Amino acid sequence: MQFIAARIDESMMIPGERVRKILIREQERFVTERPRSRSLLERGRRSMPGGVPMSWMLSLYEHMPMFIAGGSGAYFTDVDGHRYLDMNQADLSMNCGYGPEPVVRAVAERMKQGSQFLLPTEDALVVAEELARRYGHSHWQFTLSASTANIEAIRLARAVTGRDTVLLFDGQYHGEINESLVELEDGEVRPGTAGLLRGAAECTRIVQFNDLDAVESVLGDGDVACVVTEPALTNIGVILPDDGFLHAMKEIAHRHGTLVVLDETHTQVCAYGGLTRAWGIESDMIVLGKCLAGGVSIGTYGMAEEIGCHLRGGWQADPAGQDSGKGVATGGTLFGNALSLAAARATLEQVLTEETYARGAALGGRLADGIEAAFQKANLAWSVQRLFCRSGYTFAPQLPRNALEARAVENPELRGLMRVYFANRGIWEAISSAGPAASFPATAGDMGRYVAVLEEFLDEITS
Ligand SMILES: Cc1ncc(COP(=O)(O)O)c(C=O)c1O
Repeated sequence: MQFIAARIDESMMIPGERVRKILIREQERFVTERPRSRSLLERGRRSMPGGVPMSWMLSLYEHMPMFIAGGSGAYFTDVDGHRYLDMNQADLSMNCGYGPEPVVRAVAERMKQGSQFLLPTEDALVVAEELARRYGHSHWQFTLSASTANIEAIRLARAVTGRDTVLLFDGQYHGEINESLVELEDGEVRPGTAGLLRGAAECTRIVQFNDLDAVESVLGDGDVACVVTEPALTNIGVILPDDGFLHAMKEIAHRHGTLVVLDETHTQVCAYGGLTRAWGIESDMIVLGKCLAGGVSIGTYGMAEEIGCHLRGGWQADPAGQDSGKGVATGGTLFGNALSLAAARATLEQVLTEETYARGAALGGRLADGIEAAFQKANLAWSVQRLFCRSGYTFAPQLPRNALEARAVENPELRGLMRVYFANRGIWEAISSAGPAASFPATAGDMGRYVAVLEEFLDEITS
């Protein structure tokens, strides 16, 4: 019999067989209780591959996706009338909650007066100035997603340094971009998906997080344009940096003429000014997106003027005189549009305030305490990750320091079961391996609800 999770008392392990039995029961219940979603999915298959408008909506889940009727605050409802407390907020893109009032008002007003002109509105200035104040980088550009912000940041780094290679950390995800859609296999970087250009992985190097020697060794080759990293890895559970790691990494990078691109797309929910401000991190460029406009599509990257000037002439002329005078190509017709910037302004000024972040972090702490207590009660030697409003857990006594350690103790089968089990009890985690996060409109009672279902679950798998 395969055992899937070590307990404090090694003689009391959780058998994989039991997990599979509960999984089948819960999946059947999930499908049976959602007839309207089932029939919409059936109909969707005639017009969209897999029946969904974007393939993640299928590929993320082991069970069928559900169709959504609407949401409000920390909750949403599916078309069969089930209401869910959202503990992943659409992969941290909806932390401001569903339908935040100030954003609803700003978007309605902007729509009435025109949402896109291919020219700036004053909101752009207000947003850029506010981001500069919070994150410290003086100049900003806007896209419609964090993926495209990362693409432009990397392209800019290549133009500034005249180098091709990008260094990433194992366990990374930075969006739908060639450099990030790769994985480490037997020490080699290989395409992680079909359809990439042959050789797409050739310009990406990958090392383990928290390994300064490996960073030094790769950057020492002198061909790396930029290191792209999150301040704490968040796409493989949560992996925190060792004390001093980020600072030392930046020193090494600068010594070798490499730029640091800090991707705070996820960690921007942690604190006012992100982890950049909370932890005093220095970077050459910073990338944000997801919840920054309260749920309206946006991506952005901030930089110093010396880097920003490589963009100033668009792609017709590069006033910095780099790259044969061609300048760096960026942008899209709807990037930096008036609607997303009106939404971002309302979000920054009225939703993502210092008090909001402090409240979110307090809720996250409460959640982590509750999870820890639940594990102790169930006599499970699992450890709890704490990152402000975001929590999570590892099925092992120690938290991992890099992706290799994280993978060694991960259990997708158990995670899959947890998601469907929780969904059947009104709690939704779209990316269950991420771990739960408190949304800003959630309450202490909501955290208690999550912990109560967790206790019920642990009770069932360990009894
Ligand atoms: C750290 C990080 N950066 C960038 C992205 C890309 O964001 P988007 O899919 O909104 O473009 C993601 C997506 O999950 C992410 O986790």
